[in-house]
Amino acid sequence: MRVLGIETSCDETGVAVYDTAAGLLAQRLHTQVDLHARYGGVVPELASRDHVRRLVPLIEAVLAESNTPKASLDAIACTEGPGLAGALLVGASVAHALGYALGKPVVGVHHLEGHLLSPLLAQPRPAFPFVALLVSGGHTQFHDVEGVGRYRLCGDTLDDAAGEAFDKTATLLGLPYPGGPALAKLAESGRDGKASLPRPMIDSGDLRMSFSGLKTAVATLVRKRAADGALDAQAKADIALEFQHAVVDVLVAKSLAALRTTGRERLVVAGGVGANRELRARLVAEVARRGREVYFPDPALCTDNGAMIALAGALRLADAKPGDGSFTVRPRWELAALPRA
Ligand code: KG4
Ligand code: ZN
Repeated sequence: MRVLGIETSCDETGVAVYDTAAGLLAQRLHTQVDLHARYGGVVPELASRDHVRRLVPLIEAVLAESNTPKASLDAIACTEGPGLAGALLVGASVAHALGYALGKPVVGVHHLEGHLLSPLLAQPRPAFPFVALLVSGGHTQFHDVEGVGRYRLCGDTLDDAAGEAFDKTATLLGLPYPGGPALAKLAESGRDGKASLPRPMIDSGDLRMSFSGLKTAVATLVRKRAADGALDAQAKADIALEFQHAVVDVLVAKSLAALRTTGRERLVVAGGVGANRELRARLVAEVARRGREVYFPDPALCTDNGAMIALAGALRLADAKPGDGSFTVRPRWELAALPRA
């Protein structure tokens, strides 16, 4: 079965072709980072218009690269939600128009299910069941995953997501949007032990997390250093490194606790912050020390992409609707509302 995947929920236009026998055949991504950078965040109307410009050429490129004539597609998958309504509508209308024209089924994919299942694109592929750490700009959650659509939320942040904390802290340090990768880069020149930040809720004894206080602690530290006339480039790098250590310490401790409390053997990590090198290295070391396994998608597939939507669509082909041209999008959509596959 060959599935075209389309992701347009936010500020990346992602398209891919996934084959259930041969794996990922082609994928392309256009990121709108430059478009939104001067506004300091995503401007929904600009995002939608850019998806309109980019999507069809990207589809043509992946179909050509994977030697897939349109008529040989078995299904088309698009992100149905959650996300920006206008942006979702672009991907959904193209997917459903294509489905209608070709007489092929269309699968509406839940964006977070796409992230959650994205480690299945890696080799080796993790077997079910596993604990998933979903750590993105909007979510920091643990799910006990028994199969497709069988997700039990077992841990969550009480306030900001880890990625959001990275982005806000980056802004405090004067880094451009989106802050996570820029902050991680700055941290590379930081020195250990030159700044001190809390590890929120690390000893709470459960899988709850909180990252907004950490961001406030950075704000206080930045103000203090500035007042002392000591907020130079090195000081900012030191703070960036300590911030990254703090987030990673919490995520590693909670991941180990999640494995312990669920009794699962495998941890999979998904979502944009999963691209963070320190997080990956620490999880590999700490999980292995306890005789368990950890799986990550390729760093390029941690952030939004079409490949995870094509994969999730392929795993949910049974839910596909005939391409009759009618469709809906769901800007708000709870993961728990999904049926079992
Ligand atoms: O999954 P994603 O692309 O979008 C959603 O939120 O759905 O995640 C984006 C988040 C942003 O907050 C971004 O700053 C963060 O992931 N991020 C990183 C890194 N790369 C992306 N955070 C830390 N280190 C990174 N290398
Ligand atoms: Zn995402």
